[in-house]
Amino acid sequence: MSKIAVVTGAAGGMGRAIVARLMGDGCAVVGLDVDAQGLAGMAQEGFTGIVVDLMDAQAIRAAFEQIAQDHGGVDVLVNNAGTCFMSEFPEIPEDEFERQMALNFSAAFHCCQAAVKLMMGREGVRKIVNISSNGAYNFDVFDPPHYRASKAALDNLTKDLARRYANDKITANSIAPAMTETPLFGVLSEEVLAKAIAQMPHGRAMQPDEIAAWVGFLVSPAGDVSSGNVIILNQGRDVR
Ligand SMILES: NC(=O)c1ccc[n+]([C@@H]2O[C@H](COP(=O)([O-])OP(=O)(O)OC[C@H]3O[C@@H](n4cnc5c(N)ncnc54)[C@H](O)[C@@H]3O)[C@@H](O)[C@H]2O)c1
Repeated sequence: MSKIAVVTGAAGGMGRAIVARLMGDGCAVVGLDVDAQGLAGMAQEGFTGIVVDLMDAQAIRAAFEQIAQDHGGVDVLVNNAGTCFMSEFPEIPEDEFERQMALNFSAAFHCCQAAVKLMMGREGVRKIVNISSNGAYNFDVFDPPHYRASKAALDNLTKDLARRYANDKITANSIAPAMTETPLFGVLSEEVLAKAIAQMPHGRAMQPDEIAAWVGFLVSPAGDVSSGNVIILNQGRDVR
């Protein structure tokens, strides 16, 4: 039987690559995204799109109820949905701060709550993969403080869940990429983007399928023994 994998932000740059990777590895994938058109364009056998605003905890609960009904459980959860709001610190509006935390942290928190219940009692080692960011750890790059904080909180959740569910054979790991070429680059000015790409040791941004390959690795049997790790992917940029 195929593993059931839930991927949030499935219609985005990284999300599409993760969906393709997990489907290629034999998972049935449920993609959650607010982008109805994007999800509709991804229709194929083995992929189900659910349109959901992940900033709404009740909508998340309803989406997982639907997943339980349609698929009977969850084996893999990839919390990938996220964005980066770019206001300067003193000017960050309250609402922007709340939305940053709601999408990058709270949504993942609520998805984990719902998914863990649907993972209980299933075969094999079940997997949670949280897509974090180098921005939580590297203070030489542009990332704004609410973005950094949202990802640092996410990585703390990763570690908590790793310990909490170790005996239940549910693993939790974070993948923290640096510059990866997706539509999210659109939040940066040309100048900031060019500078950030120039700082990448290979002289180029990473590609979404390079990150998705690491998700695939964690989801594969090789990943069964990894939990509580934050895996930094940045071509070696920030090694100190
Ligand atoms: N691209 C990078 O350089 C980079 C670097 C580090 C970390 N990340 C992280 O990777 C993840 C994926 O980002 P990406 O680069 O693919 O960005 P993206 O903008 O291409 O994709 C984000 C997806 O999230 C969806 N989304 C946004 N708000 C939503 C909401 N309220 N409800 C449901 N879905 C919503 C969007 O529709 C989109 O499909 C994010 O968590 C991001 O922080 C990206």
